[in-house]
Amino acid sequence: MSIHISAEQGQIAETVLLPGDPLRAKNIAETMLKDIICFNQVRGMLGFTGTYNGKRVSVMGSGMGIPTLSIYVNELLSEYKVKNIIRVGTCGALQPDLKVGDLVLAMTTSTDSHINKLRFNGMDYAPSADFDLLLKAYNAAVFRKVNVKVGGILSSDTFYYDDLEYWKKWAQYGALVVEMESAGLYTLAAKFNAKALSILTVSDSLVTHASASSEQCEKDFPLMAEIALEITE
Ligand code: HPA
Repeated sequence: MSIHISAEQGQIAETVLLPGDPLRAKNIAETMLKDIICFNQVRGMLGFTGTYNGKRVSVMGSGMGIPTLSIYVNELLSEYKVKNIIRVGTCGALQPDLKVGDLVLAMTTSTDSHINKLRFNGMDYAPSADFDLLLKAYNAAVFRKVNVKVGGILSSDTFYYDDLEYWKKWAQYGALVVEMESAGLYTLAAKFNAKALSILTVSDSLVTHASASSEQCEKDFPLMAEIALEITE
């Protein structure tokens, strides 16, 4: 047991899929894994372990934002010796050529969070994806003929900005999308010598104000999980 995860040692697999929403974790476990056990219910942050094509894999919610995700990722990496974490989440497009439903693989992530300023005494750190996972996910997406882009993203601490133009600076400097977690994930994976990747589906666009219907979300979400499960084999 760790402070926020009630699993026994050995109940969590070396590879963990990490959607933000714990109910998505439950759905992935129930529809895509076999022989599942639930290893965590603390604070409703559901976590499950099962098998995918015979390989042991876990799936757990991270919650929203870098601080919440960081609590769970810290405990998964330090207490449960997890080796691979793949975030499967949604994001907002910052570029006009990204459409709702497109896939983005976050190669690196800028952030307006101060979490790494605190960690590195005011200096900058460049959180990056694991190249092996990134390449495999890219190939899996191309094989499926999905629209996929690889590049830098923004992990923001804010969803509701006061300044509605705020995102444009990041867009100008090439950030593909905005979400709220990956900078925390990539930094902690580096600290604990683990591999991490964020596979993101565009759920809305800050450029066009388009947003995914709930039917579209239902359709798009399993694809990310499928790719994540496939590349961990
Ligand atoms: N902003 C931040 N996080 C998000 C967004 C967004 O527009 N869409 C999905 N996750």
